[in-house]
Amino acid sequence: MIAPEGLLSENGSHGFSRRAFVKALVGSSALSVVAFNRLNAAVYESLASLNKQYPQDPSPDGAYWDAVRQHYIFEDGLIMMNNGTVGPMPEPVFNTLVDAFKVQCTSPCDVYGVLPGRREEVRPKLAAFINASPDEVVLTRNTTEGMNFVANGLDLGPGDEVVMSSMEHPAGIHPWRLKAKRYGITVTDVPIGLPPQSVEEITDAFERAITPRTKVISISHTVYISGLIAPIKELSEIAHQRGIVLLADSAHGIGMLNLDMKELGADFFTSSPYKWLGAPVGCGLLYVSEEVQDRLWPTIASSGWDTDETARRFETLGQRADPIVIALGEAIDFQNLIGKERIERRIQTLASHLKTELDGIRGVHLHTSHDPYLSGGLTAFSVDGVQPERIVDYLREKYNIVIRTIGSEEAGTRGVRVSTHIFVSLEHVDMVLEGVKYLADHA
Ligand SMILES: Cc1ncc(COP(=O)(O)O)c(C=O)c1O
Repeated sequence: MIAPEGLLSENGSHGFSRRAFVKALVGSSALSVVAFNRLNAAVYESLASLNKQYPQDPSPDGAYWDAVRQHYIFEDGLIMMNNGTVGPMPEPVFNTLVDAFKVQCTSPCDVYGVLPGRREEVRPKLAAFINASPDEVVLTRNTTEGMNFVANGLDLGPGDEVVMSSMEHPAGIHPWRLKAKRYGITVTDVPIGLPPQSVEEITDAFERAITPRTKVISISHTVYISGLIAPIKELSEIAHQRGIVLLADSAHGIGMLNLDMKELGADFFTSSPYKWLGAPVGCGLLYVSEEVQDRLWPTIASSGWDTDETARRFETLGQRADPIVIALGEAIDFQNLIGKERIERRIQTLASHLKTELDGIRGVHLHTSHDPYLSGGLTAFSVDGVQPERIVDYLREKYNIVIRTIGSEEAGTRGVRVSTHIFVSLEHVDMVLEGVKYLADHA
């Protein structure tokens, strides 16, 4: 497929220029579905030809990733190194989102006639992306909803206990606190290190905390405070040996890690694809393993909650924003073309460079493990004598780099957090290091 006229970049490559792209969007009311498809095809053609050129590359910091970066429509010069809350969307996802939303304006009857069918095409795609069955996939609106669906939907009562880590996100804490208040369950925190030194340090702590009353382990897979990637596989094994179910909060996981539900073994797994996968805000994943589906009540009930024999019965939401889910499908296509392994490897390369160099700066305390099994694209750290806000402000003012503060003084977790996704270069990471070194030297 040929790129639409006027959308080739100035150097004539298939990556079209930001100026041409913006021009096309401004005129988007006149832009037909065909034109949107052609825009996306041009991006995919560019990626496919790069893949041919670099079939086995061990993630070089050159043409491949520079070209990938061009497919994100950042404000000029903005360097996004925070994928928390929300991350950016690649162009094809934005195009598909706009295209699908236009249906409501131009042909509203297709909102209930055509869009639900296109939404259902996303379910098997998402299932394949995480190695699950489509019948185990619940299309939620975010991780918070998924966590609540599980906490609310399990039959638990006085005396039953939920064990979680000391570093859970509010979306992982409050559903259980509500359950405790309403149904009299007990919630127990297990302290985990900053960072833990080994998988066993974590698994031993959970084994010690589990009692005969424990019914659920609820734990962050991607710990937002410290960047830890928790050993879900090992914890699931421990849980299952004792008849306990495990709920993993992997808000950051999809799009950052090469996820495999069968390998991880969690019973329930939630994620927000608009952080690292490049999907629009408003779509979420809840995986419910076939083995435990009969133990979970739906939280929302409309037709199908009592008749559907698959995980679809947990999402009888009524009318919903299908364009967002359809754009999620595009986000999966975009990452699939690059390759999940290649993405995870690249993210690890960038994070590992950041951590190794941070270790060499006097006064820096790394809160994230060096072990690639226990870490991913989130790196957290603190600097002696430098307030986290100062680091955030300095990097934004000097380099236009966005990072965030994280943690709390009382818990001893206060610091900053940096995300290293595929649109970040080693040069960007070096800018962070230069800034941190300057601040540490002048503390
Ligand atoms: C570990 C973790 N869990 C849950 C959430 C909540 O995610 P959402 O607002 O997408 O539901 C976040 C948000 O960053 C998070 O980091």
